[in-house]
Amino acid sequence: MAVESPTVESLKKEIAALKKQRGAVIMGHYYQTADIQDIADYIGDSLALARIAADIKEKVIVMCGVHFMGETAKILCPDKIVLEPDSEAGCSLADSCPAEEFKKFVEAHPDHTVISYVNTSAAVKALTDVVVTSGNAKEIVDTFDKDAKIIFGPDRNLGNYINSVTGRSMLLWDGACHVHEKFSVEKTAQLKAQHPDAKVLVHPECTNPLRLLADCIGSTAVLLKYAVESSADKFIVATESGILHQMRSKCPEKTFIPAPPSDSTCACNECAYMKLNTLEKLRNCLRDMAPEVTVDSHIAQKARKPIEKMLELSSKK
Ligand code: 13P
Ligand code: SF4
Repeated sequence: MAVESPTVESLKKEIAALKKQRGAVIMGHYYQTADIQDIADYIGDSLALARIAADIKEKVIVMCGVHFMGETAKILCPDKIVLEPDSEAGCSLADSCPAEEFKKFVEAHPDHTVISYVNTSAAVKALTDVVVTSGNAKEIVDTFDKDAKIIFGPDRNLGNYINSVTGRSMLLWDGACHVHEKFSVEKTAQLKAQHPDAKVLVHPECTNPLRLLADCIGSTAVLLKYAVESSADKFIVATESGILHQMRSKCPEKTFIPAPPSDSTCACNECAYMKLNTLEKLRNCLRDMAPEVTVDSHIAQKARKPIEKMLELSSKK
């Protein structure tokens, strides 16, 4: 006889009971599926998730996001158990910057300060002076002298954007996110022409030609805030589609149109890694207390400093 799969409601009940039993807290990124976003105790962009993890009281953190987010939480809270629903949930941007190669790049420029985006492995963070997210990159880069020599990795698009808004020429690592680089500039411009009243919201991991179409450029939290506070009632959204759930929940009267990817046959505006997490895997990880995120203690010790530096330099706007 075929085994029936659990219903969403029964999974939610099981998760609530296990969460209580384990003394756990569920954190979720805006790119998670709607059902995970709805069940999470905390939801936010990478910066908010790092800040919340740094102050959390619970002994067990379930990080519904991607692996670098779990690592960041573990590095900030080494005594806590950090679980992730699917240990295969990586990040193409973090993967575009292998630690060994980044180390050679850093060693070739010994007089440079190293600023790394949070979308990196713990090993890359261990080679870094200060970590940034898309929510605080400009603010943190601005704390350095105008003529400071800086390496910025790994996202070439965010790096280019920060160079352009700060008038700098930081040395960039040539990495990128497979989701944010796939939006079509031509199709987004056509969409904007069809909806001239729509505001265009763009994540800074997108390419420069797409950013030129933007009314607002920022992290997922910045784009969400703009959508909520704007008097406009239509928005074209160029970032991973998970954010649309929050936008539509917070502004049910407004219209949100996902920016089209170049290939209209693919679901390219979905991050396949983020979408590996499901309610069922979330239930399983609380039930099995696995997979657990671990970070080598030597690497964690080194990676903690640039993350703490970020939290110190970043205002709580
Ligand atoms: P945010 O920091 O804007 O949430 O972005 C995280 C991310 O992975 C973007 O692709
Ligand atoms: Fe990484 Fe891109 Fe997915 Fe964000 S959307 S987690 S940068 S692969």
